[in-house]
Amino acid sequence: MKIGILREFTPGEHRVATTPSAVTRFTKLGVAILVEAGAGQRAGFPDDAYTAQGATIVSRDQALAADAILTVRPPAPADIAGIRAGTRLIGGLAPYADPARLAAYADLGIAAMALELLPRTTRAQAMDILSSQANLAGYHAVVRAATQLNRCLPMMTTAAGSIPAAKAFVMGVGVAGLQAIATARRLGAIVSATDVRPETREQIQSLGAKPIFEEIGEGDEITAASGGYAGEMSEAYRQRQAALVSGHITNQDIVITTALIPGRAAPCLVSDAQIAAMKPGSVIVDLAAENGGNVEGVVAGDMVERHGVIIIGLTDGASRMAVDASNLFARNCYNFIEAFWDKGANTLAMPAEDALVEATLLTRDGRIVHPRFAQPIAA
Ligand code: NAI
Repeated sequence: MKIGILREFTPGEHRVATTPSAVTRFTKLGVAILVEAGAGQRAGFPDDAYTAQGATIVSRDQALAADAILTVRPPAPADIAGIRAGTRLIGGLAPYADPARLAAYADLGIAAMALELLPRTTRAQAMDILSSQANLAGYHAVVRAATQLNRCLPMMTTAAGSIPAAKAFVMGVGVAGLQAIATARRLGAIVSATDVRPETREQIQSLGAKPIFEEIGEGDEITAASGGYAGEMSEAYRQRQAALVSGHITNQDIVITTALIPGRAAPCLVSDAQIAAMKPGSVIVDLAAENGGNVEGVVAGDMVERHGVIIIGLTDGASRMAVDASNLFARNCYNFIEAFWDKGANTLAMPAEDALVEATLLTRDGRIVHPRFAQPIAA
């Protein structure tokens, strides 16, 4: 079986879906890796690093003609059109972003598998691209904020006087938020955090940060939380939470927002009025910017200033650490393939009834098969 690795098409994307160290593992499994020339260049992996591990450097068309294709982000429309029926397209496919793309996979007979839909279970943990990338994004968000801030994070006692520690507030304590708390603590900031999931209170405390929580009452959740993901909150809850945050946020030097709800626009957690109440020179990093953002006025992929506060719409946190991000992404992909590898037949066996196949398979045999995306049947 041959697996193709394309040079990522999305502008500013530095990661690559497979790295030389993963090629070694794939080769042992019996998979031939075809890497498009230059695919790993922006992640710091030149072509000869791949060939040294047994991969073959090929043209884009040859990589597209493989039995399976691994990708960090969805391929370009022109490339999708060139993929053969029956090919498995596996990786970060952003299934909520563009229904037309899913229809194209189906029309072309591609078996598309979106790894961001893997369940948050123990079995899937080693394949979880959301976790591996969000962790790095959370780290990068703090480092970025620290370099943008006009003061230092740790407390310092010097002959010229003392400097108090900076204050950092993390909103949304999933994988990225937890890493943001840990990183800000390591850099010496006084850290606090909030989430809508009550179980995060203990996690925040265990990292040495202070939980800032509005209690969730009856009727506060519009859509129920499921699979560890937050549900959508009522207007009444959002107002109570906003009031709590308003008082807290005025003293913060750094705010990191990470709140996401799968398949929906990110909730707005920081309003323009709250930004206006912050100290000039404070920095907000919005990790939900690509999904509409948690901060009013945020611009995805850019830095803007409002009321003297710097707002960064971070969309490439993991990509900026492309070496580590690609290595982890490649391991996630390898673990997924290995879990379904049929040694005897030297190919992928993906039973439709397997929980991980069911969760990730978007299209097969010319149809959108995933229940969340399947076309509603006309009445
Ligand atoms: P996410 O990226 O979906 O969201 C980030 C955080 O924002 C979440 O903690 C969420 O509760 C929070 N949030 C949503 N709306 C909010 C609001 N209005 N105000 C404040 N916070 C809000 O989260 P991520 O990192 O993908 O984690 C989702 C869940 O999956 C978590 O429960 C996590 O512990 C779990 N998980 C389980 C794994 C496993 O067992 N294999 C692996 C990774 C995560």
